[in-house]
Amino acid sequence: MTFEYAPAPESRSSVSISPKYGHFIGGKFVAGTKHFPTINPATEEVLSKIACGTKSDVDAAVKAARKAYVGTWSKMSGKERGKYLFRIARIMQERAREFAVLETLDNGKPIRESRDVDVPLAAAHFFYHAGWADKLEYAGLGTSTKPHGVAGQIIPWNFPLLMLAWKVAPALATGNTVVLKPAETTSLTALLFAQVCQEAELPAGVVNIVTGDGSTGALIVNHPGIDKIAFTGSTEVGKIIARAVASTKKSVTLELGGKAANIVFDDAPIDEAVEGIINGIFFNQGHVCCAGSRLVLQENIADEFLEKLKIRMNKIRVGDPMDKNTDLGAINSQEQLLKIRELTIAGDKEGAQRWSPECALPSKGFWFPPTIFTGVTQGHRIAREEIFGPVLSVLTFRTPQEAIDKANNTPFGLSAGIWSEKGSRIFWASQQLRAGVIWANTFNKFDPTSPFGGYKESGWGREGGRHGLSAYLKGFSHE
Ligand code: NAI
Ligand code: MG
Repeated sequence: MTFEYAPAPESRSSVSISPKYGHFIGGKFVAGTKHFPTINPATEEVLSKIACGTKSDVDAAVKAARKAYVGTWSKMSGKERGKYLFRIARIMQERAREFAVLETLDNGKPIRESRDVDVPLAAAHFFYHAGWADKLEYAGLGTSTKPHGVAGQIIPWNFPLLMLAWKVAPALATGNTVVLKPAETTSLTALLFAQVCQEAELPAGVVNIVTGDGSTGALIVNHPGIDKIAFTGSTEVGKIIARAVASTKKSVTLELGGKAANIVFDDAPIDEAVEGIINGIFFNQGHVCCAGSRLVLQENIADEFLEKLKIRMNKIRVGDPMDKNTDLGAINSQEQLLKIRELTIAGDKEGAQRWSPECALPSKGFWFPPTIFTGVTQGHRIAREEIFGPVLSVLTFRTPQEAIDKANNTPFGLSAGIWSEKGSRIFWASQQLRAGVIWANTFNKFDPTSPFGGYKESGWGREGGRHGLSAYLKGFSHE
C-alpha cells in the first residue's frame, strides 16, 4: 500500500521582496549601478534585481568598515560587543520564518531544512559567539588578543545565511568589522540580515554587505584596506585567492571543497547506516562541502546494503521546496545543474552504473533526481571530483586498511564518516583518516562549538569553536 501526501505548502506571506536592491554600506542601504536578476531556482521566477558591486562600492564599504573599526568597534568592551551579538541572535529567531521562507525561495532548498537547520543554526552561531565576546582571554589564545581590523568575507550559495553567520559572528565577537559579499545567486537573506543589523542598532559600518559576482569578490580580495580574507567556495577560486594574498600582509582562511568517504563496515547497524548515507548525500541536494559523496562499503554486505538503500531512495520526495513534505529541492542554478550533468555523463562513459528511483521532476526550474553510481573505481572522475549534487559514488572494500586507503585517496580532506558497532574500530579508523571532521555512526551534524575545516585542498584554518576564534585574531597562522 502506498500513502500519498497532500501538498502542505508554506506561505510566502511572511516575506516582502523589493523589486530591486542596493548595497548595505555604513549602516544604510545605498543604490547600486548595474543590476542582475536573482531567481527562484524551483520555478525560474525572477524574485528581484541585485546590485553588482563596483570598485567604488567596495571602496566605500572598506572605508565605512575602517571608520567603524577605528572610531567605535575597537574601542568598545567585549561585554558591549556581546550585547549586540545577543540582540542580532534574538532578532534572527524572532524573524526566523521570514528568513526560512526567503532562503528557500532564493536558494531552492526544502523549507523543512531552511526552517529546521539553516536558520536555527545561524542564530546559534550568534548566540555562541556573543558568549565569547567578553571572555576572549579565557579561550586559551593569550590574555591580550587583538583583532585584525577589517575582514573581507566571501561566501557561497549552498547555505547563504548560515555561511554569513559562520563568518560575521566570530569576526564581530573578536572585534573586527566586516565587508561581506554573498554569492550572486543567493543575496536576499544577507540583505535581510542587513535589516537585522539596523534593527539591533549595530553601529554603522561594523557590518557592510556588497552584493555582486566573482569580479566584486576579487575587488574585496585585492583591496589594500582589508586585513583579513575569509572565503568559502570552490577550490578553484580558493587557489586564486591564496595566490592573490600570498605577497600581502593579509591573513586568510579558506574553506573549500570535499569528497568525503562515508565508510560502512560489515558490523554496522545497517538500517541506521542507510539513513546516515541518505542524509550524508541528499541533505541540501548534495550542495554540501562535507557531503558524504563516496560510499565506501564493505564488500560482503554490499548487495544487501544497496538493496536497502534503493528502497529508501524510492521514498525521497523531490519537488516544490516550499512544501513541508519535500525532502529534495531544486538545484541552485542552471550552471550547477550543467556541472552535475557533465560529471554524471562522465560516470556513464567511464563505465560506472547509474541508478535513480522513478520520480517525476517539475517541468520548470532546475532539477536532478537522487542518483547512485555503483561499480565506481578510484580513477573515475565521479570518485575524484566534487559533484556538489545529489549523486553518490559507491566503492567497495574487503579489509579495513583498504577502506582507509580508498577514503584517503583524494586531493580533499574535509570530512569522513565511519559506521561500525565496534568502538575500537571507530577510534582506529578515525586516527587513520586525513579529514578535518569525522563523524561516527552519524553524519552532517553541525554545532557552533565544534571546529570545522579541512586538510589538503579542502582549505586552510578552522571555523567554529575556540579554534575558529583564532582566525580573527592577530598572531595565529592558518595552519
Ligand atoms: P565559486 O567559488 O565561484 O563561488 C563562491 C563565492 O566566491 C561566490 O560568492 C563568488 O561570487 C565568489 N567568487 C568567484 N570568483 C571569485 C574570485 N575570483 N575572487 C573572489 N571571489 C570570487 O563557486 P561556484 O562557481 O558557485 O561553484 C562552482 C563549484 O564550486 C561547485 O560546483 C562546487 O563544486 C564548488 N563549491 C563548493 C562550495 C563549498 O562550500 N565547498 C561552495 C560553492 C561551490
Ligand atoms: Mg564561479
